[in-house]
Amino acid sequence: MQDKEKMLAAHFDSPGGPENLYVKEVMKPHPREGEVLMKVSASALNRADLLQRRGKYPPPKGASDILGLEAAGIVAGFGPGCKKQWKIGDPVMALLSGGGQAEYVTVPEGHLIPVPNDMTLVQAAAIPEAWLTAFQLLHFVGKVQSGETVLIHAGASGVGTAAIQLARLEGAIPIVTAGTQEKLQMAAKLGAAAGFNYKEEDFSEKVLEFTLGSGVGVILDCIGGSYWEKNISCLSTDGRWVVYGLLTGGEIHGDLLSRLLFKRGSLLTSLLRSREKEYKEQLVKAFTERVLPHFSRNTSPRLQPVIDSIYPLHEIGEAHKLMEENKNVGKVIIEMPSSS
Ligand SMILES: NC(=O)c1ccc[n+]([C@@H]2O[C@H](COP(=O)([O-])OP(=O)(O)OC[C@H]3O[C@@H](n4cnc5c(N)ncnc54)[C@H](OP(=O)(O)O)[C@@H]3O)[C@@H](O)[C@H]2O)c1
Repeated sequence: MQDKEKMLAAHFDSPGGPENLYVKEVMKPHPREGEVLMKVSASALNRADLLQRRGKYPPPKGASDILGLEAAGIVAGFGPGCKKQWKIGDPVMALLSGGGQAEYVTVPEGHLIPVPNDMTLVQAAAIPEAWLTAFQLLHFVGKVQSGETVLIHAGASGVGTAAIQLARLEGAIPIVTAGTQEKLQMAAKLGAAAGFNYKEEDFSEKVLEFTLGSGVGVILDCIGGSYWEKNISCLSTDGRWVVYGLLTGGEIHGDLLSRLLFKRGSLLTSLLRSREKEYKEQLVKAFTERVLPHFSRNTSPRLQPVIDSIYPLHEIGEAHKLMEENKNVGKVIIEMPSSS
């Protein structure tokens, strides 16, 4: 029988490939001041997990070193000083700084989001990191306006599939890039007005054609280095170019600043994981009020978390491999053993 003070968690002993991952019995966390203990049913993968596993993205100070930036489950306990806004057994999802790929995780109570009645915990696990990132990039950072065109790179990624739907919800016009026809079709189904295969065509030319030469008001860019020239070519005057990932690295050779200045463009960057606790609380609150009701069955347009596949915790290495090979469309879920 399992020791009550212990739990199962995703683990790796040394940085490296997906084969280094295994399930290990570790100590269960104890909620600290203002924290809730969550019994996790499901978590989801993020690119940050892949980088952390390779030793390239250490958790921020004070965060769990267990993988997992998001989880859904039920409230299982409270630390001292909680405001009692949650009850034992409440179904919740959470934005985490780490620790989600384990049977239990502790969360500041203000980082929890209630799970709507008509949503499963597996669906809920696909929401926090991708949707809060997309919401933050569009509204807090990019300040998207109704009627503006938004170019979303990696349109079938977890963040991309959320950003398309959130742009539509705001009355903006999302257009995307992706590397396969299947991914472009999914983006169109979610509301993308146009999609370009960056492997087969020059997306900046296509974007300028689509916008009749004026360019896009906002670019959500997780690609970085290799796209800079095309991005600046199709950014509108006064446009906001939001860099939030560097899948092709951060090095740039060329006259970026002159071209940005000529367009009066803004180059903005954002990282969610390392933000202050209070900032994340504000983000979670705004998302819960403005976006969460739109996931319910009787709303139009209805938002939907896009789930690519579901893996049991002991197959987490396979899940990492799938994401590393760019094969997922939407989120890859990790189910905890005690959830079934
Ligand atoms: N700043 C933040 O706060 C924050 C938070 C969350 C995520 N992120 C970043 O957001 C990005 C998306 O994360 P996710 O978890 O949603 O990813 P994901 O679902 O794994 O999707 C990433 C997709 O990016 C595309 N891609 C990969 N390498 C590429 C390359 N060299 N050139 C062009 N496209 C490439 C691939 O699709 P194609 O087949 O279309 O190429 C891949 O499937 C990542 O860069 C992640 O680090 C940042």
